[in-house]
Amino acid sequence: MTLLDVRDLTVTYAGGAAAVRGVDLRLEAGRKLGIAGESGCGKSTLALALLRLLPAGTRVGGKILLDGEDVLAMKWGRVRAVRWAGASIVFQGAMHSLNPVHRIGDQIAEPILLHGRATAATARKRTGELLEQVGLPAARASAYPHELSGGQRQRVMIAMALACDPRLIIADEPTTALDVMIQAQILRLIEQLVADQGVGLIMISHDLAVLADTCDRLAVMYAGRVVEEGPAGQVYESARHPYARALSAAFPRIGDPSSRFAPRGLPGDPPDPAALPAGCTFHPRCPVALDSCATEDQPLREAGPDWRAACVRVGSNDDGGPEPEPGPGNTAGAAGSGDATEPGDGTEPEAVRASEEARHSAS
Ligand SMILES: Nc1ncnc2c1ncn2[C@@H]1O[C@H](COP(=O)(O)OP(=O)(O)OP(=O)(O)O)[C@@H](O)[C@H]1O
Ligand code: SF4
Ligand SMILES: [Mg+2]
Repeated sequence: MTLLDVRDLTVTYAGGAAAVRGVDLRLEAGRKLGIAGESGCGKSTLALALLRLLPAGTRVGGKILLDGEDVLAMKWGRVRAVRWAGASIVFQGAMHSLNPVHRIGDQIAEPILLHGRATAATARKRTGELLEQVGLPAARASAYPHELSGGQRQRVMIAMALACDPRLIIADEPTTALDVMIQAQILRLIEQLVADQGVGLIMISHDLAVLADTCDRLAVMYAGRVVEEGPAGQVYESARHPYARALSAAFPRIGDPSSRFAPRGLPGDPPDPAALPAGCTFHPRCPVALDSCATEDQPLREAGPDWRAACVRVGSNDDGGPEPEPGPGNTAGAAGSGDATEPGDGTEPEAVRASEEARHSAS
């Protein structure tokens, strides 16, 4: 059975921002799906929707089938059981969200105890094992967060995500704040855990290159929609949607001096999700738009085997050339934004609550 099957997912915030608009995604156990797109395109909203962590008043539609069970139709008790044990999330900026006054061992043990999986002694033992699994000595369980480096804290967050043996891990920008050496270590660690334990991974980043290197498949989002989805290497190397092409061209290629001396970007800003343009939402920025693009929206269409893109030019002989022209803007941004869980049920582990508070104060 498909581990995660998302069908026509829509999320509209209370203020009217249509942050996710009709997203379909599938993920099999043991596979890795990357989700990319510039700041504000709806990546974190999608991740939070998967575990029903969006603020009260947010309208969510569609289906989220986790092992065949619709997360959106679950009673809250079942949702709480599924969080951590069925699927867990490493939040954007999570390494800053450990509680500073609690030892990390206690914070890792908390979800294990909350889910009634163990006695205090067994939870302590499991905590030591988890720390070793993410490359930290078990003795570090007695450390406070300020005694660890940023990379070590991020490892602790990954250990927490693994604590209840979830079938699905959602990692929202797990390495963005880390230097390249630690980033590479964390990425290899995540890859190894997926391979060893057969969990499914959704990894979110604005960095297409990192996702192409780590994931099997890649979905590129624009204005709340998936505009291209396919095999990671193919989407990265020869994207078919003009936006995905521009995003990919924004990353310099090793061994290609021209990309170093002529970094490319995309003029203009992403649209306001509360006031989206008519037609193809990318048309005001699209370097190869047709007249019809201002009025006609485009569904995803076949771009190759297991590969889809939402552009009128896909499937025609003239798909707009290999890449859009260089422009003055740039595509990437990393300002965090987010939202919270359903109002205070009091059962979330400390780090989740701290993370939600951090995200509230950032927004
Ligand atoms: N709690 C909220 N209430 C209203 N609008 C929100 C809320 N959280 C996010 N949004 C809006 O929804 C859109 C998508 O935000 P989201 O955080 O999902 O983007 P993102 O792709 O994760 O961006 P980034 O790369 O910066 O993390 C943005 O326009 C954002 O302003
Ligand atoms: S549908 Fe038109 S505006 Fe949209 S990406 Fe394709 S060519 Fe550009
Ligand atoms: Mg985000």
